[in-house]
Amino acid sequence: MKKLEVLVIGCGDRSTVYANEGCYGLGAMTVKACVDPDVKKLELMRRQFGVPAENCFTSIDQALAKGKFCDCIINGTMDSLHVPTTLPFLSQGYDVLLEKPVCNNEKELLMLRDEAEKYNCRIFVCHVLRYSPFYRKIKELILSGEIGEVRNIATYEHVGVFLSSVSFIRGKWSRERECGSSLLLAKCSHDTDMLCWLNNVTTPDTVVSVGGRDFITEENAPEGAGTRCLVDCPPEVREKCIYDAQTMYLDNCLLPWYPWQCTGKDYREITEEEKIESLKTYNPHGVCAYKAGGDLVDHQTVNVRFKNGSFGSHTVTLGSFRDGRDIFVAGTLGEIDGRADEGRLTVRHYDRKTSWYNSRVIDISEDAESAGSHYGGDRGLVRDFINTVSGGELSISATTIDDSVNGQLLVFRADESLRTGKAVKFSK
Ligand SMILES: NC(=O)c1ccc[n+]([C@@H]2O[C@H](COP(=O)([O-])OP(=O)(O)OC[C@H]3O[C@@H](n4cnc5c(N)ncnc54)[C@H](O)[C@@H]3O)[C@@H](O)[C@H]2O)c1
Repeated sequence: MKKLEVLVIGCGDRSTVYANEGCYGLGAMTVKACVDPDVKKLELMRRQFGVPAENCFTSIDQALAKGKFCDCIINGTMDSLHVPTTLPFLSQGYDVLLEKPVCNNEKELLMLRDEAEKYNCRIFVCHVLRYSPFYRKIKELILSGEIGEVRNIATYEHVGVFLSSVSFIRGKWSRERECGSSLLLAKCSHDTDMLCWLNNVTTPDTVVSVGGRDFITEENAPEGAGTRCLVDCPPEVREKCIYDAQTMYLDNCLLPWYPWQCTGKDYREITEEEKIESLKTYNPHGVCAYKAGGDLVDHQTVNVRFKNGSFGSHTVTLGSFRDGRDIFVAGTLGEIDGRADEGRLTVRHYDRKTSWYNSRVIDISEDAESAGSHYGGDRGLVRDFINTVSGGELSISATTIDDSVNGQLLVFRADESLRTGKAVKFSK
């Protein structure tokens, strides 16, 4: 099969993950051109993917001026840029792999969907979990009819201490007033998408949500805590604090591409001294987590009633100790539950002989792909996108924009309920 020639817009972490999967993991893609206002990012794309210098652009206008010269686009810009950097390419006929969330308001969401339809372009939204072997198995079980009709789906998302800190407490998604995204939009649009995708024989009707910034607050800072861990926080306070910047970012940096972004250097090149200096001075990851000034909720729960009477719910907790996701699906003929991070599902049926139940365990952790990022979802998504752009059929996981709209609208309605304290009807 001919390799797809891709235009990458926004050459940051996520685009690089997808380009790596497509070019090196699957060997089915080449990056022909890229756009990023940051020339260092363009340089990295040249080095990593061999993009010719004449195809490295600092603005989308330069790429637009060439007309359609690539097969498709990967758009990994930040949330508020997704629509403005995708829309102009649709009239040129580009299919797009677009990072989630699609955008942070309903008007743009529906406009993008309608424009994609008008120009007959495929937009795949990066709801990568749909492609992980774990969630795909649940979808297959539901489609097979084995558990009957879905009555209720409950999902739980435990955002680990490290990920919470690096992204939503001190990181680039910690302030809705700046990044434009709530916690639900930035972190849980995967999960609201999951509720709608697994139950897409129906659509949402009413949603109620509660949540708050109740735990990671200045009042809850450990007694005697300073304002910057490495500057004015006493050692006896730091040694008991789970958010201590020393242990989190210098000793065990689990996601090293995040905390050093503000230094302007690639994380593989920055020295220990530069890291320490940044944490002591300008790096937001060096600020006391409890005093970092973020405005996102630190826990939230969403309850949705679907038009056919079934229910869905999602609960997210920042600062959990186990980072992972759980799911429980109750059907009229059986039920499924499991932990995505363990890769194991249990399927249960009522047992008339004992008036109890019987169960079987499905071990998805054996699937080699499930060990990859997002439980194997990143690679699965890129493979499906390549296949579809190359003329293949849509898979059961296909995250086309029209099938992703309900999950995304659910976020907007749930956040409206959170703000107003009222149930919100889902009229569409
Ligand atoms: N699917 C997932 O599970 C998942 C996980 C993490 C992040 N995300 C989403 O991925 C997106 C990107 O996140 P990231 O962490 O890779 O961000 P990033 O900051 O690493 O990358 C964004 C890139 O966009 C570039 N950029 C800025 N303005 C631009 C413009 N006008 N035109 C082109 N490029 C421009 C930046 O210079 C940067 O290189 C976000 O929307 C985020 O919410 C999704």
